[in-house]
Amino acid sequence: TTSQREVFATRGAFIFAAIGSAVGLGNIWRFPYVTYENGGGAFIIPYLVALLTAGIPLLFFDYAMGHRARGSAPLSFRMATKVAEPIGWFQTGVAIVIGIYYAAIIGWAGAYMIFSLNQAWGDDAETYFFGSFLKMGDPGVSMEFVPSILILVIIVWVITLGVLLGGVQAGIARFSKIFIPLLIILFLILVIRALFLPGAAAGLDALFTPDFAALADPKVWIAAYGQIFFSLSIAFGIMITYASYLKRKTNLTGSGLVVAFSNSGFEILAGIGVFAALGFMASASGAAVSDVATSGIGLAFVAFPTLISEMPGGNLFGFAFFACLVFAGLTSLISIVQVPIQALREKFGVGNKASILLVGGGMAIISILLMSTVTALYVLDTMDAFANNIGIVGAAVVGLIVVGWFARKLPALRDHLNAISSFKVGWFWMIILGGVTTLVLLYMLITQIITYATEGYGEYPALLIGVFGWGMIGLLIVAAIVLSLIRWPRRTIEEADEAI
Ligand code: PHE
Ligand code: NA
Repeated sequence: TTSQREVFATRGAFIFAAIGSAVGLGNIWRFPYVTYENGGGAFIIPYLVALLTAGIPLLFFDYAMGHRARGSAPLSFRMATKVAEPIGWFQTGVAIVIGIYYAAIIGWAGAYMIFSLNQAWGDDAETYFFGSFLKMGDPGVSMEFVPSILILVIIVWVITLGVLLGGVQAGIARFSKIFIPLLIILFLILVIRALFLPGAAAGLDALFTPDFAALADPKVWIAAYGQIFFSLSIAFGIMITYASYLKRKTNLTGSGLVVAFSNSGFEILAGIGVFAALGFMASASGAAVSDVATSGIGLAFVAFPTLISEMPGGNLFGFAFFACLVFAGLTSLISIVQVPIQALREKFGVGNKASILLVGGGMAIISILLMSTVTALYVLDTMDAFANNIGIVGAAVVGLIVVGWFARKLPALRDHLNAISSFKVGWFWMIILGGVTTLVLLYMLITQIITYATEGYGEYPALLIGVFGWGMIGLLIVAAIVLSLIRWPRRTIEEADEAI
C-alpha cells in the first residue's frame, strides 16, 4: 500500500518500548504507598485479581484493537464501530492531560538527581520541596511563574520531542532499549543496597503484614484496579497505538504477558526497595514506619531526601534513585505523546514530523505554562485524580460497553489474537471482559463520580476542581465528539478496511 505507517523492526523492539511505557513513575513511587495504604500484604489479593481479570484482558483488548485496524486510538475505535470513535478521541485527550503533568514530575526528579549530590535540602526536606523548590502558594489558580521549574519542564520536553522525532524504531524503540536495561540494573543495585540497611526488615513487615479486613472495603478494590490500569498503561490509547506499528504476524498475547509480568515484577521490587529504605529511616530516627511512610508525591520528594541524608553513601544512592525516576518517566512520557501524534497524522493527513511538532509542541507549551506556576502541584493533583479515576476508568468501561455489548466485536478480536498468538484466548476472556470487568468498572466509575460530586476533592477550592477536574473532563468529551464529526481522509479508511 501507499501507507507511510512506521513499524517496530522486531518483536523485541516492541516489547522494550511497551515495557518502557509500562514501567514508569507509577511503579516506583505510586505502587509502594498504594499497597501500604490499602491493606499491605493483603492488597496482593485485589491486585492480582485486578491484574488477571482486568489488566491483562484489557491489554490484549488494546493490542487486538490497534493491531487489527492498524490505527491510532480514534481510528481503531472507528473501525470497530462508527459510534465508538469519540471513545478513541477521549482516550487521546486523557493521554494529553496525563502527559502535561507527568513531564513536570520528571523535571523535578531531574533536579533532585543533582540536589542529591550535595543534599541541597539541608535538614528540612519538606520545607525545601514545597517552599524553596516549588514555591507553592495557596491552593487555587495562579499565573505567577517559578523560573527554575520552567527551565526544568522545558528540558524534559526538548528531550521527549527529540526522541519522538527519531521515529518509532530509531527513536522510541532505541531509547527504551538503552534506558530500560540501564534502569533495571541500577534499580536492582538500589534495592539490594536498601535491603542491607539496618531496620530494612521492619519496613518490609510494615508493607507486607496483611490486613485482611481491608478486603471488605470497596475502596481497596478500586485502588487495585486503578493502580493496574495506570501501571500497565491501558485504556489511554497507548497500547492501541504501539500495537498498530507491529508487523502483521506478531505474537500479541505472548508479548502482552511478558510486558504485564515485567511491569508487576518491577512494581513489587520497587515496593520492597522503598519500604526497606523507609524501615531504615524509621529505625534511624526512632520512629514507627507508619510515621515516615508518607503518601503521594511526598514519598519521593520528601521522605526519600530525608532518608538520603541519613544513610551512609546517601549522595550516590539519591542520585541513582532519582536517575531511575527520570529514565522510567521519560520512556513513559514518550509513549503517551505518541498517542495524539498518531491520531493527528491519520485524521488530518499531517506528515510525521509536522505532527510531532504540532501536537508535541502544543502539549509542551501547555505543560510548561501550567506546571511552572506557584499552584502547579494543586493543578497537577487535581488533573491526576480526575484523569485517572474518572477518565481512564470511564474510557475503559464505555469502550467495553460499546465495542463488546453494542457492536459485539469481542469474538472478532479474539479470532484476531488467536490467529497470530501463542497464548490463546477463549470464552473466559470474553466473559471476563464483557461481563464481570465491565460491571466492576461501571460500579467503580459511578461510585467515584458520586464521591467527587458530593465531597469534592481534597480541600481544594471549587474553582480549581471546576476547571481542572470537571471542566477538563467536560472539555475532553466535547472535543471528542466534535473531532469525530470531521470526515476521515478516504484513503485512511480504505487502508484500515483492507487491514481488517
Ligand atoms: N505505566 C505508567 C506508569 O506506571 C503510566 C503512564 C504511562 C503514565 C505513560 C503516563 C504515561 O508510570
Ligand atoms: Na507501570
